Amino acid sequence: MNESTPTYWDYLALPELLNAQSGLGDGDIGPDELHFIIVHQAYELWFKLVLSQVRLARDHLALPEVPEEAVPSVVHHLNRVNEIMRLLVDQMKVMETLTPLDFLDFRDKLVPSSGFQSFQMRELEILLGLEESQRLHYGKVNPLTHIKKLAATSPGGAMAWGRIEAAREEVSLREAVHRWLYRTPIQGSTPEIAGDEQVVTQFLQDYLDRGAESRNIQADRLASLSEDPEAVRARFAAMGESTRAFMMAEDVKAEPSQIARIRRIRAALLFVESYRELPLLAWPRLLVDTVVELEEQIVIWRHRHARMVERLIGRRVGTGGSAGVAYLDKTTAYRVFPELWAVRSMLSPRRARPDVRNPEVYAFRETIGKP
Ligand code: HEM
Repeated sequence: MNESTPTYWDYLALPELLNAQSGLGDGDIGPDELHFIIVHQAYELWFKLVLSQVRLARDHLALPEVPEEAVPSVVHHLNRVNEIMRLLVDQMKVMETLTPLDFLDFRDKLVPSSGFQSFQMRELEILLGLEESQRLHYGKVNPLTHIKKLAATSPGGAMAWGRIEAAREEVSLREAVHRWLYRTPIQGSTPEIAGDEQVVTQFLQDYLDRGAESRNIQADRLASLSEDPEAVRARFAAMGESTRAFMMAEDVKAEPSQIARIRRIRAALLFVESYRELPLLAWPRLLVDTVVELEEQIVIWRHRHARMVERLIGRRVGTGGSAGVAYLDKTTAYRVFPELWAVRSMLSPRRARPDVRNPEVYAFRETIGKP
């Protein structure tokens, strides 16, 4: 065998990988600390793959024009991410084999290092589209300042902060999904067609009118059985009004053109979800489903991590200085794709949808044998 013969260990850099478990380098680590380190390292390796897959999906979607054949590729990459996330949720079980007492043997020396400093998790949040204004602070402290402060004092901190800053310059998956949704034909109309804004508004109006009919029937039935019929009617009316205001993007504080853009994005989502049976919407609806699943998996991961933490350290202050479980539980309210969730409470049954106009736009095109 000469030096250029490929080997399993060189290809996978096993000597480096298997020699990277000495922790703080302060002497021998015990078996529980080895367990703790390897579980974290396994997460970080998966995070690396997740980041690369999300970037690939984003790159396809952020193109000025997304070819139809690119949509399955986006679904493919996001499906891979979703499978990894399911594994990462399950992997918490492995972490939980550490007992609270065994953890206490080495926990103190870790302070102030913490999952707060998982710069890959921060990159993922930013890359998905979590806005800084959404980020939870604990007390007055932004969790990111943890890393920012270290940037000035250590090469590792500079590297971690550099990655976070670079991620902020990228187009997020949320923005890429928005750009793609924005161009979706609604009732056969696309943004560059004259009169598109009216088509979109008319579609929304028709949808809301038909939805109101179905809601009123439900409200009447429930009110007739209720001890407080007025409260029932008021609840339905409030739901109808919030649906209308959301679809018309009345909650958006921006220039009129920006409001019209958001309205079109929401209408496109409603259109894709409502007319799932149209042939050309088959892949778009799968794409929307995988993005919803991605966010769902991340929320489940946050829940699962919080429960694991509660089991291991109870309600203690975290090694990073937050309120621990109380802080982590609040992060489960993060939603990067709120429209994708909101549209679910707005859908009307098939029988109450407006008819599709220009259905030929959504039919498969026959290309075989044609020039
Ligand atoms: C014994 C096991 C673990 C305990 C007790 C624990 C505890 C905590 C606590 C208390 C926090 C809140 C920040 C703080 O004050 O430190 C936190 C944050 C975090 N942990 Fe863990 N953790 C554990 C394992 C893991 C593992 C295996 C991962 C996988 C990468 C992880 C990733 C994170 C991340 C990403 C955050 C930041 C969450 C956010 O700010 O949204 N943790 N952890």
